[in-house]
Amino acid sequence: MKTILITGSSSGYGLETARYFLSKGWNVIATMRKPREDLLPRSPLLRVLPLDVTDDKSIEAAIAAAGPIDVLVNNAGLGVVGAFEATPMPHIRKVFETNTFGVMAMCQAVLGHHRQRNLQCDPRSFPAGRRIYRQQAGHRRFHRFAGARTRALRHPGQAG
Ligand SMILES: NC(=O)c1ccc[n+]([C@@H]2O[C@H](COP(=O)([O-])OP(=O)(O)OC[C@H]3O[C@@H](n4cnc5c(N)ncnc54)[C@H](OP(=O)(O)O)[C@@H]3O)[C@@H](O)[C@H]2O)c1
Repeated sequence: MKTILITGSSSGYGLETARYFLSKGWNVIATMRKPREDLLPRSPLLRVLPLDVTDDKSIEAAIAAAGPIDVLVNNAGLGVVGAFEATPMPHIRKVFETNTFGVMAMCQAVLGHHRQRNLQCDPRSFPAGRRIYRQQAGHRRFHRFAGARTRALRHPGQAG
């Protein structure tokens, strides 16, 4: 059975993704900044590991502890909701550290092995909706960037 590593599994989509793949019989590595064993059903298929995607040492330790990974889900992220001009720059920087550089760091950590095994990296970019919401201007910038990066990872020889 394949192994999936999910970042930001303590809540929301990450937690539900971990729950879903466990129910389908996958080996699930649910990673969290503050690991909690009580969030998901007890299972021999489940491992909960500490991981902060903005911390290189944390990434290194998690990848080493995880072993071979078939699927990486870059779910960990911070949202930006509110008027762009009212969003403090420190928060915007934190969003990019997590949602952009954190994703890049995770991809770098697993991509070499994945390419050898012809596997993919999913930056979880949500590039779908075309409407630009003024309240989400900072977030949209991230999504556009993530969409371009997704294309570049899938087709490394082509321009994004
Ligand atoms: N919900 C939406 O409508 C929506 C729309 C578009 C995109 N997204 C994206 O989808 C993803 C999940 O969203 P959600 O709604 O499920 O949010 P959520 O419930 O707030 O979950 C975010 C997860 O990311 C984790 N996280 C934050 N910073 C981290 C870091 N530095 N290292 C590791 N984990 C970190 C959080 O962990 P802690 O518990 O430690 O804080 C939490 O587990 C996010 O990337 C979000 O930007 C969501």
